[in-house]
Amino acid sequence: MSPDKPISSHVPVLLEETVEALAVQPGGRYIDCTLGGGGHARAILERSSPGGQLLGIDANPDAIKIAKTNLGSYRNSYRLVNENFVNLQAVCVKYDFSPVHGILFDLGLSSFQLNGNGRGFSFQYDAPLDMRFSPDQEVTAANIVNTLSEVDLARYIRMYGEENYSHLVARHIVKERPINSTLHLAQVIERAIGQRRGKIHPATRTFQALRIMVNRELENLGVALRQAVNLLGFEGRLVVISYHSLEDRIVKQFLQQEARDCICPPGVPVCICGHKAQLRLVHKKVIVPSPAEIRHNQRSRSARLRVVERIIAQEDCDNRAEMERVLIGANVGTWRRPFLVKKLQVIFAAA
Ligand SMILES: C[S@@+](CC[C@H](N)C(=O)[O-])C[C@H]1O[C@@H](n2cnc3c(N)ncnc32)[C@H](O)[C@@H]1O
Repeated sequence: MSPDKPISSHVPVLLEETVEALAVQPGGRYIDCTLGGGGHARAILERSSPGGQLLGIDANPDAIKIAKTNLGSYRNSYRLVNENFVNLQAVCVKYDFSPVHGILFDLGLSSFQLNGNGRGFSFQYDAPLDMRFSPDQEVTAANIVNTLSEVDLARYIRMYGEENYSHLVARHIVKERPINSTLHLAQVIERAIGQRRGKIHPATRTFQALRIMVNRELENLGVALRQAVNLLGFEGRLVVISYHSLEDRIVKQFLQQEARDCICPPGVPVCICGHKAQLRLVHKKVIVPSPAEIRHNQRSRSARLRVVERIIAQEDCDNRAEMERVLIGANVGTWRRPFLVKKLQVIFAAA
């Protein structure tokens, strides 16, 4: 196969909508925090050429290898880093990669992680109960399943899997321990709740809960989103695609909060928080895949894309050094609204 032809079976979700939302432009600088097979990254490189640069991050070392092959001829325009995106800021400092024009998070798993890559993410393939994105992480799903108390298991399966029958599942798991393989766990859950789950497989929610716990997905997402905002240049775009309600709630609440000037609790007569909006919601409503995309790619059915743009008002410019970097960054490559950059330079010169 030609190195320019994508080798991953992963079909990027909301591809056109993502590139649109990022407002990708020639010469721009972008970060893909969830590189996967490199499907979105490749489209970003195509659209930002000539002169575009991409920093691709993935916690899974296999994803880095696959993406390298799929990004083929763009090899002078990207750097791929095997890291957790919770360390996004440190990675950008290390490679002097900020401010940037756009940052993408396409959360969750790629198809090659789900299609039995031996990491135990799927209940459809037998594998050790692992679920770590990176082999460097210490805690596996087997550790959790075999050591937590029944009460804690039930609590976390409910919290991170939104599983109504979490108590039943936890009781059966504790009775059946040790459980070290995906199919064994799936059978135990099936015995516990049978077909009560309706359309989805009875193990879906428990597997989701375990994966979230093993990889600290929700905590890491919250930390990384905050870092991402700080790395965006003026009018830079942040795009997040999430696949379940727990992630989407974190993304939505964070973006809405950062798009508001005051975040005082309701009922406070005068603002005491001093919070200033750093973002503008580009679309008030979430973007979802078309029926045609869902027909073509079932995995896309739960996807929800949110997009914001960084705004910096004059009164926010208390960090002069950061602003200077934004301006320098904005002058490298093509910037979408040069007149606004000029305006900021005038403000700066006068300060
Ligand atoms: C849905 S896939 C991305 C697919 C990619 N957009 C494409 O088009 O091929 C999500 C990827 O994010 C990675 N990932 C998930 N959480 C991560 C984290 N906290 N840090 C780094 N990578 C993460 C997973 O290993 C997986 O490869």
